Amino acid sequence: MLSKEFLPYFFPMLSYDIMPQLYGPVYMQYKDNSDYVDFGFKSVKTSLKTGLVNELFSKVSNQYDVMNDVMSLGLHRCWKKIFVDKLSLKPNMKILDLAGGTGDIAIRIASKKAYLNPSVTVCDLTYEMMKQGKRKAINRGIITINWHGGNAEKLPYKDKTFDVVTIAFGLRNITNKNQALKEIARILKPGGRLFCLEFMPPEGFLKAAYDFYSFNLIPWFGEHIAKDREAYQYLVESIRQFPEPDILKSMCLEQGFSKCAYEKWTGNIVALHQAVVN
Ligand SMILES: C[S@@+](CC[C@H](N)C(=O)[O-])C[C@H]1O[C@@H](n2cnc3c(N)ncnc32)[C@H](O)[C@@H]1O
Repeated sequence: MLSKEFLPYFFPMLSYDIMPQLYGPVYMQYKDNSDYVDFGFKSVKTSLKTGLVNELFSKVSNQYDVMNDVMSLGLHRCWKKIFVDKLSLKPNMKILDLAGGTGDIAIRIASKKAYLNPSVTVCDLTYEMMKQGKRKAINRGIITINWHGGNAEKLPYKDKTFDVVTIAFGLRNITNKNQALKEIARILKPGGRLFCLEFMPPEGFLKAAYDFYSFNLIPWFGEHIAKDREAYQYLVESIRQFPEPDILKSMCLEQGFSKCAYEKWTGNIVALHQAVVN
């Protein structure tokens, strides 16, 4: 008898919209039981997830940048460029790139927006990711970025410290997303803005191709390039578990943001969320 856990692996083209019906109470339990939380399609003890995420990113950190280029066919560079351009930075702003990983966003801000004299800080859970980021920044002659280890659920900053918080492809990995949003709202100055870039599973004509690509080719790339199939299986699964844009918008409003909006990019596979605190 085929276990429900393995359905998505055997039938990657299956519509994930019907997962709750297929999984019934088990699937809903993953969503509702706060002792357990999703880790891709798996359910793990909530207290263990952050450690598992840390371990996963530590393992793939060496190949993380290469994998991003391969998996997105270079598109992540365009998304990050547009993302940084959308920040509408002003002179001397304090910017936190949360879950900043190997520093793509921070490095782009520190180099392309250097004329605005921004103060840029990366805060990430995974030391190994930031080690790659620091090396990349130094190789490009950028020594102005601050690199801090920290968990988004308990940020090591005083209230009202930053003008802008960016988080690119990071929120979906955080165990307690509501807590992280509350923390971001706390450390933003009045009028401060959150910019969150995140994947979303597409609808419509792209869906079948996207599902095929993400459930078959991405894990294969993970296995052969990063030597870690499971990490990239997690990545594509975690996209399916991430709240839809309207739900994320409600979460932001509940956690202290006053205005929230989002826009979908590239055939709805990526969404930019913006939120402001009063
Ligand atoms: C997919 S990477 C994104 C890295 C980078 N922002 C980018 O766009 O390339 C996700 C990052 O989130 C970080 N992360 C996961 N959970 C976190 C947490 N609770 N607090 C801070 N960072 C976290 C991971 O360590 C990892 O570096």
